[in-house]
Amino acid sequence: MNKKRVAVLISGRGSNMAALIEAAKADDYPAEITLVVSNRPDAAGLARAREAGIATAIVDHTRFGEDREAFELALDAALAAQRIELVCLAGFMRRLTPGFVSRWSGRMLNIHPALLPQFKGLHTHRRALAAGVKRHGATVHFVVPEIDAGPIVAQDWIDVRDDDTEESLAARVLEIEHRIYPRALRALAEGRASLTSSRTQAT
Ligand code: GAR
Repeated sequence: MNKKRVAVLISGRGSNMAALIEAAKADDYPAEITLVVSNRPDAAGLARAREAGIATAIVDHTRFGEDREAFELALDAALAAQRIELVCLAGFMRRLTPGFVSRWSGRMLNIHPALLPQFKGLHTHRRALAAGVKRHGATVHFVVPEIDAGPIVAQDWIDVRDDDTEESLAARVLEIEHRIYPRALRALAEGRASLTSSRTQAT
């Protein structure tokens, strides 16, 4: 099988990255995690990636000051060096410019800890509790220039309990994230999900 070469971009813990690495171990998985890139030198996920024998790169955004394009050119160079075909953002906490997004259009996914289009942005679990929603979950979507707005590839949810806290909700949503991200990447790598308009076309 000709597996797609995937880079996972992280900024921290890397539990979604680890879920993707685990899923990609299966012989019939259509993608391999070839590279993990972090914009933070101290991201815990880097050590996990190295333990799994995966190449890592650090592109430290602080070295580029306000120059987002220079940062992204360095990112592109790291991706090109490993002949990356698909990109998964997994807790990658940098905004990307429309230029970078359009270079990877249809080939870049993000995971967001809420049922988009609800609760774009940060502190999604706190905001879900404050809003009193009865269902909360996670979404994998294609990345488009607008933040947390791309066509949805996979989504799943849980019932919110009366005694839920931000932490308990985060923990249950994280389990969902670890299930749906490998599924969404599989669909993209197999050509079953593509970005053609404002919706993901699933075949
Ligand atoms: C995950 O919950 C992910 O959905 C979220 O950050 C966490 C990273 O955890 N991403 C965002 O909030 C993006 N706006 P991880 O490093 O253990 O995968």
